[in-house]
Amino acid sequence: MEPKLSSRLFLLITTACFILLFTSTNFSQAPSSTAKLFDCTKSSSSPFCASRNFLFNKNTRPISKNIPKTKPKNHDHVSDTPNHPLDPLTVMEINKVRSILSSHALFASRVPHLLNSVVLEEPDKNLVRQWEKGDQLPPRKASVIARVGGNSHLLIVDLSTSRVDQADSPVPESGYPIVTSEEMDSAASAPFSNADFNRTINSRGVNLTDVICIPISSGWFGNKDDNTKRVTKIQCFSTQDTPNFYMRPIEGLTLLFDLDTKRILEITDTGQSIPIPGSTNTDYRYSTLPNHDKTRPLNTISLEQPRGPSFVIEDNHLVKWANWEFHLKPDPRAGLIMSQVKIHDPDTQETREVMYKGFVSELFVPYMDPSEAWYFKTYMDAGEYGFGLQAMPLEPVAEPKNLFIGPLNDCPRNAVYMDGTFAAADGTPYVRENMICVFESYAGDIAWRHTEYPVNGMPN
Ligand SMILES: *[C@@H]1O[C@H](CO)[C@@H](O)[C@H](O)[C@H]1NC(C)=O
Ligand SMILES: *[C@@H]1O[C@H](CO)[C@@H](O)[C@H](O)[C@H]1NC(C)=O
Ligand SMILES: *[C@@H]1O[C@H](CO)[C@@H](O)[C@H](O)[C@H]1NC(C)=O
Repeated sequence: MEPKLSSRLFLLITTACFILLFTSTNFSQAPSSTAKLFDCTKSSSSPFCASRNFLFNKNTRPISKNIPKTKPKNHDHVSDTPNHPLDPLTVMEINKVRSILSSHALFASRVPHLLNSVVLEEPDKNLVRQWEKGDQLPPRKASVIARVGGNSHLLIVDLSTSRVDQADSPVPESGYPIVTSEEMDSAASAPFSNADFNRTINSRGVNLTDVICIPISSGWFGNKDDNTKRVTKIQCFSTQDTPNFYMRPIEGLTLLFDLDTKRILEITDTGQSIPIPGSTNTDYRYSTLPNHDKTRPLNTISLEQPRGPSFVIEDNHLVKWANWEFHLKPDPRAGLIMSQVKIHDPDTQETREVMYKGFVSELFVPYMDPSEAWYFKTYMDAGEYGFGLQAMPLEPVAEPKNLFIGPLNDCPRNAVYMDGTFAAADGTPYVRENMICVFESYAGDIAWRHTEYPVNGMPN
């Protein structure tokens, strides 16, 4: 977390870009102002079509055609069906998993339980490679990691037979499942129900209403008793007079929190003598910068694709661009997963498989400060927080007049967005909107040019 919230976001976008560099916008429901901006017909005065006379000739196809259709915003996905063996679990499938598990013995008891992960159990690689469009899909299965009564379980749920396989269950305590959003919320609010915590905050002269707390890394912290518990350390910050609260840590104050029982186990309070850094000049948002209205405003830069993007997304997940194609899907842990990346070789007329599956497996961020309040800051952003779970909806680029309207202008105008469908800790499906955007970007920016007079002559 922290500076990393933004780096996470960056990663999601760049991972998508890096792959192919793509584009989007709300084409299916483009608001009239956006439509006008893209209207590069002869009558248009859109600033984005300044070079239309150059680009638009008789052979140019109309803009409205050939543009990949994005799903309508707020599409509820309730009737989505899988089209490809690697397509993520749909809303209906996640509901089915929940219903199958609700009658499973493991969840019958009153012991607290939660689902930390519900994702597609991908079929065998050979089955996937042999599958062709039009073939029946291999059996759809879900891989579920559940935490029940302080134990972790790995379950494979077959959606067609309702059979549940418990491989090695409960799994040995050599690792712990991802921290759910629900667990993060309870960790963040737990300190405030502790009188000792309130007392120390008050004694530091900090207003409790200004304090926010965040779970840092879960793990084992050297105390023998804790080695059977799933615990995390919580730290707190003052938000007084700044949104940039990471600049204002309440040093030396850490709370040990049991994620399963939701109890504070221990408070370490050693930093009373360490002052909280001031808030002056810690807010870097454009609108709050002094004299921001006196800076010369910037005009929007827009990539023009008068004929629309060159890629298409078939069946929601299959991206085709030039002679490349790949399957792209959101994932709660990895953020996004690219699969079956292939290139068609025009010389041999063969399609070559380049990569079966690719994703960012982890982002490990150890702070390497051995002091008591810092040694445990060893974030595993994918494995503990989940790139996908933490992903924010990507925002389209701001309209020109409101260039600095918000902090997030993530994707260029003709990006195509993809939603993630994930499961909450109780198994209810939910949709994370616009978590991936796909767009093409001009990557040339060549700052040199070379030719020779005998070859080209001199321009007149
Ligand atoms: C997408 O369409 C919706 C509904 O018309 C609109 O509220 C939203 O602003 C649009 N987004 C963009 C990027 O045009
Ligand atoms: C601690 O302070 C918070 C915020 O003022 C308050 O809501 C909460 O009830 C207090 N907790 C205790 C145990 O006093
Ligand atoms: C704490 O902040 C709240 C909300 O801003 C305010 O109403 C309250 O008076 C403050 N308390 C102290 C002791 O400053």
